[in-house]
Amino acid sequence: MHNIEVKASSGSYPIYIKNGLLGEIGVEIKKIYKGSRIAVVTDSNVDEFYGQKTINSLKESGFETFKIVVKAGEESKSFKTLLEVYDKLLDFKINRGDIIIALGGGVVGDMAGFAASTFLRGISLIQIPTTLLAQVDSSVGGKVAVDLPRGKNLVGSFYMPKAVFIDPLLLRTLNDKYLNDGMGEVIKYGAIKDSELFNTLMKYENKEALLSQIDKIIFTCCSIKANIVELDEKDTGERMLLNYGHTIGHAIEQFFNFTKYSHGEAVAMGMYSITKLGEELGLTKIGTSIAIKDILIKYNLPWELPEIRTQAIIETISHDKKNIGGSMNLILIESIGNSFIEKIDKTKIENYLHKIIK
Ligand code: GLY
Repeated sequence: MHNIEVKASSGSYPIYIKNGLLGEIGVEIKKIYKGSRIAVVTDSNVDEFYGQKTINSLKESGFETFKIVVKAGEESKSFKTLLEVYDKLLDFKINRGDIIIALGGGVVGDMAGFAASTFLRGISLIQIPTTLLAQVDSSVGGKVAVDLPRGKNLVGSFYMPKAVFIDPLLLRTLNDKYLNDGMGEVIKYGAIKDSELFNTLMKYENKEALLSQIDKIIFTCCSIKANIVELDEKDTGERMLLNYGHTIGHAIEQFFNFTKYSHGEAVAMGMYSITKLGEELGLTKIGTSIAIKDILIKYNLPWELPEIRTQAIIETISHDKKNIGGSMNLILIESIGNSFIEKIDKTKIENYLHKIIK
């Protein structure tokens, strides 16, 4: 088992990574939770594969379990679903001494996490991420949220879990699109912080070779994220580096109403184009964008920006909740593995974007 301890202001919490961990989840939770009641929140897809297995393991360890299954898909990250979840938690008489498990990908982790952070002013939360994206990113660091009709993640909080349990074997049932989606974030960690990870990713010959090492890759990514989150839990400095490729990526996702590109695909295009911009501005070593393009092609991720209206993208970027006042932060890399934050005047963004959006 690989263990990582994340030191948060509310206390530290462990991330456990082990092949086959879900089958032993009851025994593992018994070691860190002395209560007896657990509400498992999951979605209809994950429930089909892993719902019963999780409940069985918890029951074998003597826990009383309650399962809440929401519809699979981004639309469940809504207030409507949240109210349904609160209702079920009330039906089950879940109280502050009990725990909530978020079993699923990013949607379930964010929505159930937000439910846990708000229900009765806070119920302990355990994250069991089931997609690569959730295992390397969204389950770690305490960001939980739901969407509003006017945008994603607009209502949320920072709420650290009691523990994160990662079973890399769960990725065996992920289809290629979801695996590539997560690889977008994995590549990001290499690009911003770890050239060795980046170079290793370039060497895998096929999906099997990648999956045989995926537990170590997840460990590397979570370690990078844990270090960053420890330095900047509330996302006002170093943590912004995790947004490399995300500003343009989010704008692309939004432009296509979150239907055409997955998050990882949109971030992939964002990483390439922002690196190209860095080169044009003389802030990024020439050739870095080619390295990014090569790795994206290797993992079947898009790199070239789609046909988009520059003005719409500029407006989306200007309204991004992360942009404060008259300036915005561009996350750039100087070379593979070395990232930095470049504060720019918002008035320059249009000019910059015209350099990369034709
Ligand atoms: N997903 C970026 C962050 O957790 O800050």
